[in-house]
Amino acid sequence: MKFVLSTIAWVESIAKKEIERQWWVIEEVVDRLITFSGWIELMPRVNLWSRVGNKLYLLLAEKEKVMDFDSLFDLISTINWKKYFKKDYPIIVNTSSTRSELFSARTIQSIWKKAIVKSLVWENKIAKEDENLEKMEILILIIDNKVRILLNTSGNALHMRWYRTQAWEAPIKESLAAALVLLSDWRFKESFYDPFCGSGTIAIEALMIAKNIAPWIKRAFAYEKLWLIDWETAEIERKMARTKTYDGEYRIYASDIDPEMVELAKENAARAWIAGQINFEVKDFKEYIWKEISWTLVSNPPYWERLKDENLKSMYNSIDKIFRTNSNLWWWVISSFMEFDNLIKADDYKKRKLYNGWEKCYFWKRK
Ligand SMILES: C[S@@+](CC[C@H](N)C(=O)[O-])C[C@H]1O[C@@H](n2cnc3c(N)ncnc32)[C@H](O)[C@@H]1O
Repeated sequence: MKFVLSTIAWVESIAKKEIERQWWVIEEVVDRLITFSGWIELMPRVNLWSRVGNKLYLLLAEKEKVMDFDSLFDLISTINWKKYFKKDYPIIVNTSSTRSELFSARTIQSIWKKAIVKSLVWENKIAKEDENLEKMEILILIIDNKVRILLNTSGNALHMRWYRTQAWEAPIKESLAAALVLLSDWRFKESFYDPFCGSGTIAIEALMIAKNIAPWIKRAFAYEKLWLIDWETAEIERKMARTKTYDGEYRIYASDIDPEMVELAKENAARAWIAGQINFEVKDFKEYIWKEISWTLVSNPPYWERLKDENLKSMYNSIDKIFRTNSNLWWWVISSFMEFDNLIKADDYKKRKLYNGWEKCYFWKRK
């Protein structure tokens, strides 16, 4: 079987490692998509374990050089749709076309509907609007005239972990937070700091990585409602994931100047089943300026909120000062505050481009 895992931009290399760790063969890595092949067990496994993935798709059909709608119709008609869908589930079709002849989303969708109605006897159920039923997603992805027809096995995107329920101003995507911890090369026996912890995402993801807790152990997936895998096989994967957690003790320090945020971070940690295992504190990051701290720090300081430019500048100057006074600290900061480049000695840092949603940011590291 062939699968395609979508990821956030610029973390494809981490997603690739996640899949290789499960011993499967990568076929292609292109812009935010990892294609790989393996047995059906991989479907629950990757859904349960991927920290940086977005959605895991099953590849139903693919074809190069599709230049007209007749060829698209023929490709869709080759799929035995009844093999996948239970009778009552409504289907939603999304399309994405890049650098290709076929690009009109509306025409692609009407072609799809014609082709699938031909092959499904319960055609009147297609796209039925029933608020109680989660829709099964098909993605018709066309890149450089190559068409891939993909079935979403995850359901809701994997970056939204269950522990974060409350929306607030500037959270970082959970999958991006996990990617930052992995990119920082934090060694779990050493201390880990996040002095701008907000809702606690980076610290929580760090502890889940250290303890080897599968990020998705607690949620339902779309594949459970399709005819793709038997319940026992999927349950074995879930049970196996539960046995893989380590019981170590870790030194993770997360603080924020806002007491409400610290309370929220504690609640989020409790929902992630790790209550009391992260040292949360209300603290101004400036308290670290003359304090010796060592090992790894990964943080997401404010970059726009309610602070005037001047204040941001002075905040980032202080951050740089903390970096300079702590030679045993591996600092990593993610921010969209591009001015940081003008405040620091560029030679002291290296940086990596990333995206938090659609927002471009950099992950700066003091060398
Ligand atoms: C971009 S948010 C961090 C978001 C966090 N990564 C998350 O996912 O929730 C920046 C945080 O810095 C905090 N902050 C602002 N000034 C601070 C200061 N002087 N010391 C410590 N924290 C501060 C804000 O309260 C806010 O929660």
